[in-house]
Amino acid sequence: MDTQAPADGSTPRRKLFIRTWGCQMNVYDSGRMADVLAPLGYGPAETPEEADMVILNTCHIREKASEKVFSDLGRLRQMKEAKAEAGQKMVLAVAGCVAQAEGREITNRAPWVDIVLGPQTYHRLPEMVARAARAAGAQIDTDFPVEQKFDLLPQPRADQGPIAFLTIQEGCDKFCSFCVVPYTRGAEFSRPVAAIVAEAKRLVAGGAREIALLGQNVNAWHGEAPDGSTWSLSRLLYELAELEGLERLRYTTSHPRDMDAALIRAHGRIPQLMPFLHLPVQSGSDRVLAAMNRGHTADLFYRIADQLREARPDMALSSDFIVGHPGEKAEDHAATMALVEKVGFALAYSFKYSARPGTPAAGQPFQVSEAEKDARLQDLQTLLRQQQDEFNRACVGRECDILFTGPGRHPGQMAGRSPWLQPVHVTGPAELAGRSARVKIAAAFPNSLSATLLDMPPLLALKELTPA
Ligand code: 5AD
Ligand code: SF4
Repeated sequence: MDTQAPADGSTPRRKLFIRTWGCQMNVYDSGRMADVLAPLGYGPAETPEEADMVILNTCHIREKASEKVFSDLGRLRQMKEAKAEAGQKMVLAVAGCVAQAEGREITNRAPWVDIVLGPQTYHRLPEMVARAARAAGAQIDTDFPVEQKFDLLPQPRADQGPIAFLTIQEGCDKFCSFCVVPYTRGAEFSRPVAAIVAEAKRLVAGGAREIALLGQNVNAWHGEAPDGSTWSLSRLLYELAELEGLERLRYTTSHPRDMDAALIRAHGRIPQLMPFLHLPVQSGSDRVLAAMNRGHTADLFYRIADQLREARPDMALSSDFIVGHPGEKAEDHAATMALVEKVGFALAYSFKYSARPGTPAAGQPFQVSEAEKDARLQDLQTLLRQQQDEFNRACVGRECDILFTGPGRHPGQMAGRSPWLQPVHVTGPAELAGRSARVKIAAAFPNSLSATLLDMPPLLALKELTPA
């Protein structure tokens, strides 16, 4: 994760290293933590070894993710001790959902941690850092005042680059049987329209051409409008599509239950809304979906997929799957495979069910064996991989606009994103960075595409004609 220089442009006096796990919300939050610490003189460190402060911004969604945090903390202990021997200090903070869920357990297991803070308390970070620097013992803050978080944090940096993230919603009230998010991120909270629009304008003024609206349950967003009415996500998207200079809009992550008709229609009516949607389904078996407390059936998912493709024929879908939820039988897994066959996904993430303490599924009988989970995951991933390859190959020969973000891996190459979120490489000038240009897709690789430029953006063409 990149951290940043102090906002006033002065040379940073201290170095900050942030390691980020998990979702886009965490990536966004890491940026905001760097923002709050910049006025204290913290600028980016390349490695944790050279940092005066290390923040682990953690994810609790699966067991492996939180175990990685503890093994990282073991390594950081050695670094911290080595620094102390050299007479230097390293402030160590654990943030994010592991911090929220495990709180004091972290300082019990890793007493060399100075600060533990949950996702709603990042605005209190400077105060906690000051106290930790005075060595007043470990600081723990995992309260839940989510409104305050947004009011009290400084505005995020406007120059996030051509692709920017904007959190519009946090938390979740859905309580899926397997999921820790309602416990770690708290109840659903939607930011008001005015705050979102103001932030979007600043991002566009800072060079953003694409904005991805973020939320754990982003399509459940319902924010207060300036006239006191309540808007739904589709209304907000129409509003943001009016912003001059904003070429692309996305939103993630959505729940099938909240894909209302107006939102589906918006995909056919807002050209800026990209033809790609991440819509987790988790399972194709109605029995398992009910056990998961998902509140939707496989049939509802099929209908949404059909309607989205009717509204926007080039629509591609991505999803999340869990195999081996307690009680999942071979025929349930077959139903998941059938759903994947029927819908067809451009991209998907699939996981073995992992019991999270305190969630309802963790205590359920009929846990599926590891061997069975492994076999089902492999089966599912083979099919999903095949579909991803097919989707990428089907793009070859297509013409589309690419939003270029910066240089590619090889000299003379530029990299960008397709409308379907695929990384795309072209041979082209550095001036493409931050702009869109029309390309023809030339070749497909497992996780990216290559393309040839069709049109240079007008400004570039002019520049090339003008003698230096
Ligand atoms: N076990 C496995 N996968 C999980 N996810 C969430 N909780 C669990 C769990 N306990 C997956 C879901 C979710 C994604 C972010 O992580 O598929 O959509
Ligand atoms: Fe977790 Fe379900 Fe909420 Fe998604 S909708 S964050 S899976 S509880």
